[in-house]
Amino acid sequence: MSAPRILLTRRWPTQVERHLAERYEVTVNDGDIPLSAAELAEGLRTYDIVCPTVTDRITAEVLEAGKGRCQMLANLGVGVSHIDIDACRRLNIVVTNTPGVLTESTADIAILLMLMVARRAGEGERQVRAGAWPGWAPTSLLGSDVTAKTLGVIGFGRIGQATARKAHRGFGMQILYHSPHQAPAEAEGLLSARYCASVDDLLRQADFVSLHCPGGAATRHLLDLRRIALMKPGAFLINTARGEIIDEEALIEALRDQRIGGAGLDVYEQEPRVPAGLMALENVVLLPHLGSASVETRVAMGMRVVENLECFLADLAPPDRVP
Ligand code: 8YV
Repeated sequence: MSAPRILLTRRWPTQVERHLAERYEVTVNDGDIPLSAAELAEGLRTYDIVCPTVTDRITAEVLEAGKGRCQMLANLGVGVSHIDIDACRRLNIVVTNTPGVLTESTADIAILLMLMVARRAGEGERQVRAGAWPGWAPTSLLGSDVTAKTLGVIGFGRIGQATARKAHRGFGMQILYHSPHQAPAEAEGLLSARYCASVDDLLRQADFVSLHCPGGAATRHLLDLRRIALMKPGAFLINTARGEIIDEEALIEALRDQRIGGAGLDVYEQEPRVPAGLMALENVVLLPHLGSASVETRVAMGMRVVENLECFLADLAPPDRVP
């Protein structure tokens, strides 16, 4: 391929943009406003490699409308449920992601959410900022301890295991997990983790439930009204994975009726829309998809994209090809 044209659909860390610009013909979406479906299709028609993010909905229609030139979607991020992978396969478009480099920062946010929601940190901060803190009282803003509680991890890949490790080693938590495959005994041993054969079984036992499975059709509304009702009264639900894994309306109902203790969310069904029903509640912590938002991690993610596209351009197998 001579002088490949590359499109970054958003602004990326300067260091990564510079690295790419010094080597390739790169266009960056300077306005940094998510591209429309028509603009994405136009991008696919005009560039050899398109580098999208979670804010780009690359549907079968967009791929069809833009087919012809683009041979690679080098995604910035590990989750790819915003890309129709089947359609890419059909159109011979190689898709890559950025696993590994955002594991720790995303697990940190899961822990942060657990602590914030259980210890009512958001509520307390809102009180202080509103000038409404009446002062210390023996019974005000009492939350739940995190230490020594049981954490149920749904999806036991890299991020799920890192969250379990931090929870177990840092806070002495007991770990339960569910995933399609039982983890190797060694991983279980390190964390004293116990495998639950079903999600339902895990939900009945955990004080905290943290979601770490991929998004997409297979896990859509995995946590629905029925399953949320299985959670222990007072338990907390944490989501740093994908919004669509939880039925938001069902969660709002459970939180409103205080059937569970609370929720800590970093992701939403229709980002950046956060339902008013959630915003009205005190027992939920709402973060704006901060999972991988550290300078070090975002640079590492960008450089991981670079690695993938460099392999692709050299006719080598990209290390993070999505099958
Ligand atoms: C990314 C994420 O920043 O990598 C992921 O899957 O959820 C985020 O942390 C985002 O998705 C970028 O595409």
